[in-house]
Amino acid sequence: MSPRNSLESIISTDKIEQRVAELAREVERDYSGRELVVVSVLGGSVIFLADLVRKINLPMRIDTVSVSSYTGKAVAPRGLKVLKTFSEDVRGKHVLLIDDIIDTGGTLAAVMEEVRAMEPVSLKTCVFLSKKKERNIDVVPDYVGFEVEDLFVVGYGLDYDGMYRNLPYVAVLHVT
Ligand code: IMP
Ligand code: MG
Repeated sequence: MSPRNSLESIISTDKIEQRVAELAREVERDYSGRELVVVSVLGGSVIFLADLVRKINLPMRIDTVSVSSYTGKAVAPRGLKVLKTFSEDVRGKHVLLIDDIIDTGGTLAAVMEEVRAMEPVSLKTCVFLSKKKERNIDVVPDYVGFEVEDLFVVGYGLDYDGMYRNLPYVAVLHVT
């Protein structure tokens, strides 16, 4: 870490574990008796994905997509492009889309459009974090781990310039 950046922990490892278990129970209840295709947006959601799916006791396939969005730094997105298309055929399937955080909603909206074009039976979204803010894009995630203030956060998969994904907790990054 740059000696002038500092981390302020806002969600502990214990709280994360507890909440992820709760989300898994909700998903199990809502999809009871069904088979799922979980689609994870790389790379921010990989840690959340890994913890969540291992707590969901339902038949599922897992697929990943990547989207070019942020340039890696804490700046506004330059425009979104879905880079890897799906390898699972989601036609006629129940799709649960997973991402690390919803900020403007642009990423989720772009991936949802791609998924919808493949005609799944249902499409829901699950984000680990949701930033408390007004969104111009009309996307409301179906499952939210935690709401956070509109600050730049890292850890538990979320990065700043590729770093901090391995932190086992969520922190606000103060860049100085
Ligand atoms: P959106 O398209 O503006 O909703 O942004 C979603 C994507 O931007 C997420 O998948 C993250 O990769 C990234 N992002 C947004 N806010 C943060 C943050 O506070 N920390 C790290 N990544 C973020
Ligand atoms: Mg991301």
